[in-house]
Amino acid sequence: MSIVTGKRIILGITGSIAAYKIVELARNLTLDGAIVDVIMTISAQRFVGAATFQALTGRPVLDDMWALPEDGVVGHVSLGQHADAVIIAPATANTIARLAAGICDDLLTTTVLASNAPLLIAPAMNPLMYAHPATQANIALLRQRGATVLEPAYGRMAEPVVGRGRLPDVPVIEGELRALLGRTSGPLRGRRVVVTAGGTHEPLDPVRFIGNRASGRMGYALAAAARDRGASVVLISGPATVDPPAAVTLVRVETAREMQQAVLRAIDGADLLIMNAAVADFRPATTAEKKIKKGDDEELTIHLVRNPDILGGLAQRRDLVKVGFAAETHDLLAYARSKLERKGLDMIVANEAVASIGADDIQMTLLDAQGGVRLPLQPKTTAAEMVLDAILERFAARLCPPEQVDPTGSAGADEPVP
Ligand code: CTP
Repeated sequence: MSIVTGKRIILGITGSIAAYKIVELARNLTLDGAIVDVIMTISAQRFVGAATFQALTGRPVLDDMWALPEDGVVGHVSLGQHADAVIIAPATANTIARLAAGICDDLLTTTVLASNAPLLIAPAMNPLMYAHPATQANIALLRQRGATVLEPAYGRMAEPVVGRGRLPDVPVIEGELRALLGRTSGPLRGRRVVVTAGGTHEPLDPVRFIGNRASGRMGYALAAAARDRGASVVLISGPATVDPPAAVTLVRVETAREMQQAVLRAIDGADLLIMNAAVADFRPATTAEKKIKKGDDEELTIHLVRNPDILGGLAQRRDLVKVGFAAETHDLLAYARSKLERKGLDMIVANEAVASIGADDIQMTLLDAQGGVRLPLQPKTTAAEMVLDAILERFAARLCPPEQVDPTGSAGADEPVP
């Protein structure tokens, strides 16, 4: 189950050409089980038709302050009071100004004023309007009052202008919304989680390296799942081929030794480390300053030396919940169990290496001191959700504020491993 499932989201759309992009957001949230009430301003409806949002959300689009909902209570008061979050995307300079001033002259501004729900604002406007001191002061005021106001993206606008004013991409807005919901009600709120992802590149010369096929997909999904549960997440990523999630602190590294430095910095004060990166065990003993030329040689011998074992070196950090990964081509569970013990881990996630590396789907087995649970073959996104739920269930006492611990437990109840 995702953080948006069953949540009541008010999606306010104001008059910007970028309004068409929000169609995808409304669709994604609805497919994920959210109850999405779209409020459009009159000018928003000049850019996209209400029928599109109505069809995608399965709910009437609202624009009239005086329309009565089914329960007979005046809509503009009741709607915001029952919301889990309000997003305004795209938000024009005009709407931002009216919100900052507390003006409520249409259904959207009235709903925001009559709501305590967390507010996420994604501005989109001409770069000069965005940079104007009036807009900047309004945004600063809204942030001071607790609203999350995203920075618009830099790039080419619909009019032939380049600058900062574009609506952030939908995955960014969606990630920020999930983070906001997590910080409000997630079981890891207030916790610090470090996730490593991708592979490492160990340089041979300025243009060549020894690497592996890790895509970053699994680690990025784990970082997003921790973020959605309310944690503040540091994602330390080696080279990867997919886009990182929004609303996490991204630290990019290249080599195993750089990753070790980044991990040692990030775990200071952290509660949970999920070490998903495929770290190279060896690196070339020397890196040539110039491109290696083959000359007349028929063979080339590369001398490799051991890289540090990042996770294995953290055995003394008993306060930190440590989760490792073991991707093997053979004797999977035996190797995974020995790594669990040798590296002093709380849990290890075992998976078959060839089938999962770079793939969309993964079949994992979760092992800890108590035994193992085999999870079904599934997309890495849902697998990541199950890993986080299993961590929360097993280590609730160390990770969750006491009032949130579920005494019955629920996650990870799949096929047991003998
Ligand atoms: N790991 C690490 N530092 C390394 C190698 C691996 O921190 N230099 C971490 C990985 O991120 C993973 C776990 O240790 O969480 C197991 O990694 P794996 O490569 O499967 O194990 P190795 O320690 O390399 O053991 P082996 O070479 O025997 O497979």
